[in-house]
Amino acid sequence: MRIDIVSIFPDYLAPLGLSLVGRAQQSGAVTVAVHDLRQWTHDVHRTVDDSPYGGGPGMVMRPEPWGEALDALAEPGSRLLVPTPAGERFSQRMAQRLAGEERLIVACGRYEGIDQRVIDHAAGRMSVTEVSLGDYVLFGGEVAALVILEAVVRLLPGVLGNADSLVEESHSSGLLEAPLYTKPASWRGLAVPEVLRSGDHARIARWRREQALLRTATHRPDLLAELPADALDPRDREV
Ligand code: ADE
Repeated sequence: MRIDIVSIFPDYLAPLGLSLVGRAQQSGAVTVAVHDLRQWTHDVHRTVDDSPYGGGPGMVMRPEPWGEALDALAEPGSRLLVPTPAGERFSQRMAQRLAGEERLIVACGRYEGIDQRVIDHAAGRMSVTEVSLGDYVLFGGEVAALVILEAVVRLLPGVLGNADSLVEESHSSGLLEAPLYTKPASWRGLAVPEVLRSGDHARIARWRREQALLRTATHRPDLLAELPADALDPRDREV
């Protein structure tokens, strides 16, 4: 996968060179290029914003530099991602869909947002997804891009050493993951649940399933309500 990110604060994206996303770049699973939007401005002040038509607070990003950036970066099959609080809600399912793309372009807006014509024009030549991390407002799209790309890159083939991690983790089954424990078996008077040390894999699987159901009911009852009817067996219904 190739990912191009456009921002007026390219340094914000530096963490993509670290940790496992950095390693995924080194291994060739993904190529990431970060571009400064201002390279597509032509005035001495390298202007990227202006006041909104119709009035209102703040500034809006002008369409011209974005148009030129997309002219330079778009290729057949590219998908444009635009992080915005006005977008479709990001989810593990969306991360899985995006992990199947060949080329992503991420347009990080600042201020109040990007002139809508940029998105409308881009939609004429590529797939466009406006995506929101959740119901809150950030200063700009950069942090959202980091979150989205980390969730996507870890799903690419060969990036996680143990592909089983993807099967058991929170949200892959529609439920939150059961609590996790490691050594020591007793810490500050708190013992690891006996079942996890029993070596009885069927009992362990049942316990984890119950804990996942209880946690999901407590923290995210909305997820339980969304589960397909056949996702719960009779034993689950007893929990
Ligand atoms: N930009 C500003 N707020 C955002 C949010 N909640 N999600 C994605 N991008 C954003």
